[in-house]
Amino acid sequence: MLALVNRHRHYLKSLTGLDQQDSDRLLPLCVHAAQSNDAVVVEDTLLHDWFSQHSMVTSAPYIRFFVAIPLSGANGELTGNLCILDRQPRSLYNWQIENLKILARQSVLLLELGRKQNNLRALAAHQENIKEQERQRIARDLHDELGQNLLALKLDLTMMLEQESANLKLPLNDAIYNLNGVISGVRNIINDLRPPVLELGLYATVEWQLKKFERQSQIRAVIDASDTGNAVEVCDSAIYKSLSTMQVATLFRILQEALTNIRRHARASNVVLRLQHLGHGIEMRICDDGIGISDDALCKHQCYGLIGIRERLRACRGSLQIDTAAGQGTTLTIYLPLAK
Ligand SMILES: Nc1ncnc2c1ncn2[C@@H]1O[C@H](COP(=O)(O)OP(=O)(O)OP(=O)(O)O)[C@@H](O)[C@H]1O
Ligand SMILES: [Mg+2]
Repeated sequence: MLALVNRHRHYLKSLTGLDQQDSDRLLPLCVHAAQSNDAVVVEDTLLHDWFSQHSMVTSAPYIRFFVAIPLSGANGELTGNLCILDRQPRSLYNWQIENLKILARQSVLLLELGRKQNNLRALAAHQENIKEQERQRIARDLHDELGQNLLALKLDLTMMLEQESANLKLPLNDAIYNLNGVISGVRNIINDLRPPVLELGLYATVEWQLKKFERQSQIRAVIDASDTGNAVEVCDSAIYKSLSTMQVATLFRILQEALTNIRRHARASNVVLRLQHLGHGIEMRICDDGIGISDDALCKHQCYGLIGIRERLRACRGSLQIDTAAGQGTTLTIYLPLAK
């Protein structure tokens, strides 16, 4: 087993062969070994002053043999022990102890790697949140500062046009026409950054996104509400309204990537989206009837869309399942647990 000890907690990271997972009773064994700072080999615990009194030696599981190799972190700090226990006395050759030390070093490296990976994941999730907030801020500024002023300018020009008798009518009309283009351009940028519909909840957002996708791709996209009643019921359901804006944004960004993939890769004619309240979360299924994803495509380098979906979901304890087969389309099943 790997027994990890820090100032606040003691826990068993990995344990095999010992049914008993009682970490309180194991703690004194591990602390005792950790303090020695070298391999501890107790060939027969009954012959050892300290061990012979331990409850795991005098009662079940009747430990008779105990080895602990210290696990030292990168800076030499002690993080715990790699322990081997048995119910009968044993002895070890030196080379076996050396091998256990190598195993202990590898365990430390794996633990470090796991810790770094968790840190990177947390950092990526944090950056996603910041990006989302930043998008929201820029969209709001564009709307409040630029959008409002452009509208005011258009009203001024329209008033001038109404009062103008002849000479400037043509250039004023041109200016209003160009201004309309700029206003709709700004609106598109705001929508791309962060569609205001996100504030209206998940159902409205999904509906809006599918309509936009249909318009742009000529691929039919519908919501299937057959399992959950009619669309209005689904839309009004308290569960969809209880989602935070951040959760709606997460599902929206995932849907965006899935639809972009369908447009770019699937050669599909139909997309069906199903939303369901399942257990303590929301399940969103996105099915297309396209060419399917090959195993090679799933392992391609420098493709970050599906990885991004997985990581986004992992950060909020959700999951992604991909069901696909050549010529049979693709179904992404996304599960997002609701915060308690
Ligand atoms: N719905 C789909 N139908 C068919 N193939 C798909 C579908 N979705 C993804 N793929 C395949 O899976 C690969 C990986 O998708 P992923 O979204 O991770 O990367 P990408 O779209 O190629 O690049 P990006 O990083 O810009 O998203 C795609 O290159 C494509 O071959
Ligand atoms: Mg993609």
